[in-house]
Amino acid sequence: MAPALVELPPQQVLSFTKSGSGEYKEAFNGGPKAFRQDAELQGTEKQPPAKYPNYLPTWNPEKKYPPLELFEHYDHGKDANAAFPNLLKDAKVAEMTANIGMEIEGVQLSKLTEEGKNELALFVAQNKVVAFRNQDFADLHIQDALNIGGYFGRHHIHPTSGGPAGFPQVHLVHRGADDTTSRDFFEERTNSVTWHSDVTYEKQPPGTTFLYLLDGPSAGGDTLFCNQVAAYRRLSPEFRKRLHGLEAVHSAVEQADNSRNRGGVVRREPISSIHPLVRTHPVTGEKALFVNPQFTRRIIGYKKEESDFLLKFLYDHIAKGQDFQARVKWAPGTVVVWDNRVTAHSALLDWEDGQRRHLARITPQAERPYETPFDG
Ligand SMILES: [Fe+2]
Repeated sequence: MAPALVELPPQQVLSFTKSGSGEYKEAFNGGPKAFRQDAELQGTEKQPPAKYPNYLPTWNPEKKYPPLELFEHYDHGKDANAAFPNLLKDAKVAEMTANIGMEIEGVQLSKLTEEGKNELALFVAQNKVVAFRNQDFADLHIQDALNIGGYFGRHHIHPTSGGPAGFPQVHLVHRGADDTTSRDFFEERTNSVTWHSDVTYEKQPPGTTFLYLLDGPSAGGDTLFCNQVAAYRRLSPEFRKRLHGLEAVHSAVEQADNSRNRGGVVRREPISSIHPLVRTHPVTGEKALFVNPQFTRRIIGYKKEESDFLLKFLYDHIAKGQDFQARVKWAPGTVVVWDNRVTAHSALLDWEDGQRRHLARITPQAERPYETPFDG
């Protein structure tokens, strides 16, 4: 069971969010300032209109959401048949790499029964990231897509994202026709790699997460994934023992500041949360590293230099671990499902010709992270 977590006074947590080794880095959403509705709907000289205008982002700076409340999450992977007879009966399955990821053809996510969805939760937890090809997911009514995702947990409303009109629960990744983000970004940075798990500053970060392509460049914009269970296991038993019981502050402050500075929205006031450095998956029982340079700020009880030193080692370990990473290529009809509790990922900003890239994410929240006793 989950051990009781020590809570720090809010003031102390807030000071930790400003004094850790966070390396918040973002350049992927142009926000309302860069969005050109006419270019999206009508196309430009260089590009056709957006394929999915119903998914174009909208922002309402007046609309504010209250703080999220804790809820009881139930992981349906617990009810899955581990032979996957419903999910995989017509599937062509191929391993992405030796250590993470599966490619699936012959399955239609929109047609899964309840048993199939239970198996999906377990299959994704075991394999960390799964690319489903030739899906009709993007063609569903947005509410139908949300209904499928909602089976896996309470929908998260992203604090700084725009959403399709009427569907704030859908997180959009959108770079419009003739986008200049890449050119601007590389004036300041040498690479676009930003390892993270999504919104780990929440008290209950997401679990089974869906991201699907609506429009994309002819090449580029792949997504990198890292198996955080494998990253944990690669460490020596002595080092794992040292990590056991440590907790860190995760902060939303920098993301909110970044959005405000770019003329974007902040729909919910930023928070910070304390999570264990190593978390246990509620269904597989596997332990995974749970830190990332985007949102983790400070290890509780360590002095700043000590915290920076240990976090820097873990970030390097995750970033350099190509032997437990995969690179997912997008294609029309692709839905990528990952378990955000046991993976990290990074977008890549590697195409510079202004082609549109448009994806939608459905982000069910899961349990509060916990760590089971050290087992050597
Ligand atoms: Fe992400």
